[in-house]
Amino acid sequence: MGIIVHEATGVFHLCNDKISYIMKKMANGQMGQLYFGKRIRDREDFSHLLELGHRDMAPCVFPGDTTFSLEHLKQEYPSFGTGDMRYPAYEICRENGSRISSFCYRGFRACPGKPGLFGLPAVYVESEEEAATLEIELEDPLIGGKLTLLYTIFEKLPVIVRSARFENVQEAPWELARAMSISLDLPDCRYEMLDLAGASLRERYVDCHRLHQGVQSIHSMRGHSSHQFNPFLALKRENTDEHTGEVMGISLVYSGNFLAQAEVDTMGTVRVMAGIHPEGFVWPLRKGEQFQTPEAVLVYSDQGLNGMSQVYHKLYRTRLARGYWRDRERPILVNNWEATYMKFDEQAIYNIARKAKELGIELFVLDDGWFGKRDDDTSSLGDWTPDLKKLPGGIEGIARSVTKLGMQFGLWFEPEMVSRKSALFEAHPDWVLGSSEREICMGRHQYVLDFSKDEVVDYIGDRMEDILKGSPISYVKWDMNRSISDLFSVGKGKEHQGTVYHRQILGVYRLYDRLTRDFPQVLFESCASGGGRFDPGMLYYAPQGWLSDDTDGAERVKIQYGTSYVYPASSMGNHVSAVPNHQTFRSVPLATRAACAYFGAFGYELDLNLLTEKEQEQVREQVRFVKEHRRFLHTGTFYRLKSPFEENEAAWMVVSEDKKRALVAVFRSRQPVNRGYDRLRLAGLCPDLEYTISDRDYCCFGDELMEAGLILSDYASGVRWSEAVQGDDTARLIWVCA
Ligand code: DGJ
Repeated sequence: MGIIVHEATGVFHLCNDKISYIMKKMANGQMGQLYFGKRIRDREDFSHLLELGHRDMAPCVFPGDTTFSLEHLKQEYPSFGTGDMRYPAYEICRENGSRISSFCYRGFRACPGKPGLFGLPAVYVESEEEAATLEIELEDPLIGGKLTLLYTIFEKLPVIVRSARFENVQEAPWELARAMSISLDLPDCRYEMLDLAGASLRERYVDCHRLHQGVQSIHSMRGHSSHQFNPFLALKRENTDEHTGEVMGISLVYSGNFLAQAEVDTMGTVRVMAGIHPEGFVWPLRKGEQFQTPEAVLVYSDQGLNGMSQVYHKLYRTRLARGYWRDRERPILVNNWEATYMKFDEQAIYNIARKAKELGIELFVLDDGWFGKRDDDTSSLGDWTPDLKKLPGGIEGIARSVTKLGMQFGLWFEPEMVSRKSALFEAHPDWVLGSSEREICMGRHQYVLDFSKDEVVDYIGDRMEDILKGSPISYVKWDMNRSISDLFSVGKGKEHQGTVYHRQILGVYRLYDRLTRDFPQVLFESCASGGGRFDPGMLYYAPQGWLSDDTDGAERVKIQYGTSYVYPASSMGNHVSAVPNHQTFRSVPLATRAACAYFGAFGYELDLNLLTEKEQEQVREQVRFVKEHRRFLHTGTFYRLKSPFEENEAAWMVVSEDKKRALVAVFRSRQPVNRGYDRLRLAGLCPDLEYTISDRDYCCFGDELMEAGLILSDYASGVRWSEAVQGDDTARLIWVCA
C-alpha cells in the first residue's frame, strides 16, 4: 500500500486497494509511464510494459538502437526536442534560443501525508496516514534546471494528485514557456472524452464525443476558468455509463487560463494533459527561483461516471474545501439581486429581510449597488464606501437592523474590478490591465484591476477589511464580472508580461487567503457572472459558489446535473427566484424551483413580500424541509439516474451513508400525453433492506428498486399522484426509507 520503489529496476508503483500507478526510469534517464488503472499486483519489474519495438523511421535516442524512440514510448512528463513528436508537457527556452531539454532521473523522496503548495490552492490531508507523497527529482545539467514531479496517492480513494516544480540552479536565466500539471500517456485510445462546456447562463452542459486521431481540447484564455469550459475532462470507455464501466477524470485545481487536451497519435495511443494554458505564458526563472504548477487530481473509477463523481465529491467536500464552514450546515439565504437589482433603499431592504425572518430564512445578502454612486453598472466599482443616499446608516446601519431581526447579514463585493467612472480609476489609472497607449476594452463598463501588482491587491484588501471590521457581516459574495482581454501590466518590464495571467490569479488567491484568515467565520461564496469561475481552485477558499445567473428552475436541472460530475452539492449555490423567470421568461412552479435547489446551498432571490399567502406558506414549508434535511443532502452519496440532456425527464438521488434513507428527485420537462410505461432503476441502496416509498402504498426491497426499478408511469396502481406533478416542469420528490 502507498509507494513501492524497486530501486534495482527503477520502477515506482503507487497503489492502494483500488488503483495502481506505475512508472519507471527509462534507459535514457527520463521517466516512462507504464500503467494507470485498477489495482494490479506488484512485481519487481514491469519494463515490458514500455513496449520497445523496432521503428525504422522514428528518431532514436541511442545510435543504432531503433527500438528506443521517444516518438513511441509512453512517458511521464515528456519534453521537447529529444524525439517525441507529440505535444510536450513543458518547454524551456534558454538564453541562446534553444528549446531542447532532457530532464533525467536523479533521485526520489517519499513521505507520508501531503505537503501544501505555497500560494496555490491544493487538496490536503488531516493526518499523515491519509496519503503518501512521492517526489521524483530530475535534472538537466545543460539547462541548469531541476524538475520535481510530485505525486500523492490517497489511501482510501482512487486518487492520484500530480504537479511539477521547476528550479533554476545555474547563473544563466531561462524561461518556462509551458508547464503542464499532468501529462499521462495511455496505451490505447478507445475512449470518449466527456467535458463540461457551455456559456454564460448555460454553464457546464455535458459534452461527450469519441476520441479520434489528432488533438481534442478544452481551454480558457479569458483569465478565469470560464463559463465556456470547466477545468475538467474525463476519458470513459464507450460502454461506460453512470453505474458501470471504466472512466478516469482529470480535474485541475486552478481558476485561471487552462488547457486540457487529449492527443491521439498515429499508433492509437493517447496523451492526455492539463495545466496552465501556454498561450501568453512565459515565466522567467533566475538562479534559485522556482515555479510550482497548480495540481491536477486524477481519479479512476470502474464503477461508471457516478463512481468517479462520488470520489470527487468526497475529496472536494472534505479535503479541498476548508475552514469553519466546511462541515457546517449552510444558512438559508435570501439575496436581493433579482428582487431589486440596484434600485433599493434601506426600507426596501429591511422589508425583504423582515419577511425573510418571518418565513424562517437565516441570512440576508445585500448584492450589488450599495456603494459609491452605483445606480447602474456604469460606475463606482473600486469605491468601496456605502452610498448614504440609499443607506443613510451605511453598511453598519443596515447590517445592525438586519441582525437585530435575528438574521445574519451578508454583503456583495467585486474586488478585482474598477469602473471607468470611479474615484479609484481617477486616482490610479495605471492600476488597470491594458496598455495606456491604447483604448482599453471595457466589459460591463469596467476594467480589470492589475492584481499582478501587490500594492493593488493590498489596497483592495484594506478597503474590504474596513467594511468587514466595521459591521456584523457573516457572509461575503465575491463576484467577478468580466474576462481579461487587454493583457498588459502598466509600468512593468517585458519580463513581467508573460507572467501576468498567472500572477493575476495568484493575486486573487492571496486576497482570498488574507480575508479568509482574518475573518475565519465569514462564509465566502464565489461568483463570476454566475458560474464563470466555478472551479476547484475557488472551492479551496470559498466552500460554495453561485452556480449560474440562470435561475430558471428547468434550466437549473441541467446546470446542476452537469456540475455534479465533479462538484459536491454543498458547493452549489442554488436560489429560488421569481416567475416569470428573468432570464427565460418561463414560469416554472414554485415547488419545482425549490425541489431542484434543495440539492445544494439553498436560498431565495426574489421579493418575498410579493408572494401570495399560499406561496409564503409553501416557502415556510420549504425552509423547514431544508433545515431538517440539509446535512443529509450535502453529505449523502449522490447518484445521477437520468440525464436532462437526453430525455424529457431527469432524475437523481441522494443516499445516506448507512443506506437506510434516500431521496429521489424526478424532474419532468413537458407533460406527455397518454404516456407509455416507464421505470426508474434506483442506485446505492442495500439490496437486502425493505424500504417504504413515500408516494405509494407498498414496500420494496432494495434489490427490486435497483433492478426492476421504481414505476414512474402515470396511473400505476398503488401510487399516490399529487396534482402538483401534473403539467410541464414538474418535480417529484420520493423518500425511500428502511
Ligand atoms: C453577477 C452575479 O452573478 C449576480 O448574481 C449579481 O451579483 C450581479 N453580478 C451583480 O452585479
